Amino acid sequence: MAVPTLFSLVVAADTRRGIGMAGALPWKLKGDMRWFKELTTCPDTDEVLARYLMNIGQQDKRTHSWESLTARIGGARPLPEWGPGARNAVLMGRKTWDSLPPRFRPLAGRLNGVLSRGLAPGVFQGSHHIWPSLQAALDELGRDPTVKNIFVAGGGEIYAQALRHPDCRRIFLTDVDAQFPCDTFLPDPGPAFREIAVSPRLEEAGTMYRFRLYQAGG
Ligand SMILES: NC(=O)c1ccc[n+]([C@@H]2O[C@H](COP(=O)([O-])OP(=O)(O)OC[C@H]3O[C@@H](n4cnc5c(N)ncnc54)[C@H](OP(=O)(O)O)[C@@H]3O)[C@@H](O)[C@H]2O)c1
Repeated sequence: MAVPTLFSLVVAADTRRGIGMAGALPWKLKGDMRWFKELTTCPDTDEVLARYLMNIGQQDKRTHSWESLTARIGGARPLPEWGPGARNAVLMGRKTWDSLPPRFRPLAGRLNGVLSRGLAPGVFQGSHHIWPSLQAALDELGRDPTVKNIFVAGGGEIYAQALRHPDCRRIFLTDVDAQFPCDTFLPDPGPAFREIAVSPRLEEAGTMYRFRLYQAGG
């Protein structure tokens, strides 16, 4: 029997589970971008959760401005980095890859994987892997001892497939407390996922959001 390759989903969604508009993110939230970078790059997820004040089973009623969170993070000790030959992997659909500004791709410090049925599979110019399916990516990453954590990072088509996959164990959701015009949505993850941690509310340019962590199974 194949050994499961557990992975997490990382996503930001508004109150209607909107995630994208016209091939781009519907919002610009620096705090969410920083959270995404640290979560997907750092070897120790618990360190990232502590930094963002994620409390288990405890609702924090405070609201932090993005600036105050930045100041807090600025004063915190640096997050651990991977040693040579080890890193996390970030998987995304071809359309999400295309939506990244060229100067930001590949995402630094992470193995980048792009899912495409149309592009030829392989390693593209030493920058990113192209896989013909989510399962093909998971199979190959699962055999690579240097890959420590796998994050599925969108977009809508890939999230839908990832949520149906039995090895999807965690959802890191940026819960954006607003409604934006969207044409791409996150499917309902369903009751299999239970919320286990939440950050205080953050405020940035009038938009409120929190980071939430859901886990599948008992
Ligand atoms: N809010 C968030 O957290 C977040 C995160 C990421 C993206 N987004 C947004 O989501 C939107 C993009 O989402 P999307 O649903 O349009 O596109 P997508 O999921 O990023 O990419 C779709 C593409 O992935 C490939 N693909 C899909 N299923 C596949 C499979 N089973 N095997 C191999 N390849 C497969 C196909 O590429 P080919 O056409 O090349 O075959 C398909 O066209 C954008 O607006 C983006 O900004 C939001």
